[in-house]
Amino acid sequence: MPANQPLYAYIHGQITPLEQAFLHVSDLAIQRGYGVFDFFKVHAAQPLFLDYYLNRFYQSAQLMELTVPLARPALIEVIQALIRRNDLPLSGIKMILTGGYSADGYNPVEPNLLIIQQPLMLPTPEQVARGIKVITHDYLREIPPAKTINYSMGIRLIKQIKAQDADDVLYHHQGFVTEFPRANFFLVKHDNTVVTPATNVLAGITRRNVLALTEQPYPVTVGTVTLDDIYQAKEAFLTSTTKRVLPVVQIDDVVLGTGKPGPVTMALLQALLQMEEQQQQTVVIN
Ligand SMILES: Cc1ncc(COP(=O)(O)O)c(C=O)c1O
Repeated sequence: MPANQPLYAYIHGQITPLEQAFLHVSDLAIQRGYGVFDFFKVHAAQPLFLDYYLNRFYQSAQLMELTVPLARPALIEVIQALIRRNDLPLSGIKMILTGGYSADGYNPVEPNLLIIQQPLMLPTPEQVARGIKVITHDYLREIPPAKTINYSMGIRLIKQIKAQDADDVLYHHQGFVTEFPRANFFLVKHDNTVVTPATNVLAGITRRNVLALTEQPYPVTVGTVTLDDIYQAKEAFLTSTTKRVLPVVQIDDVVLGTGKPGPVTMALLQALLQMEEQQQQTVVIN
């Protein structure tokens, strides 16, 4: 696709130029912040790990008492049509389901489904080699297994993150570590075992993929992770669809290990990249 060619979105049951994709002010997403979404990568016209993202999208909708207006095969057809129309080499697709146009601004009605596709930026090799610094904050998302559109706490903390010269914030609840606003957390212990919080987190698809890397010499498990554990960690990293595996080198005032991305983190990143490459060969959309 030539640069600056207009993008298309799916809204109100049809594919429309993105610049004409609007919701009415009565939508519950605007009135009450009520809605769910999901987000997956598309590489060379193939969505990666689409099944898992669709499962989570339908599950989030169910948890929030919303009905996706399209059954799975119809939703896949729309995704397919949008990918063909936009023809982007590397992109992210966001499916958003809102509470709909509510007459009284509170009672949910028929949900609105929107699908947008935009070019994607992945972390650069320099960012990976540097790793990130994070601060911690006590906060528990309201319905952790649902991917809702409410990111108020994360957004509210952006100024504080910048003021502390940090890159992100890691949530814990009463000392039990959970996740980042938009990513999951993993730590590497001194015996090279790897653990990610078991509960009160979104079941990240990248987290799932890292947990599935059973060929690695490092056992990756789910478990309890406390603030004490993370300050003692040998290495730490976050996972997400856009960041893949990104090393964390400092948490609050504590520099982890050498202060540089460690070998276990880098090995898992390589293994994940291989898994993504294999997935790219799996043709989902013709
Ligand atoms: C709260 C939360 N946790 C974790 C993740 C990472 O999930 P995934 O690997 O599926 O991108 C996200 C993604 O946006 C998120 O919003």
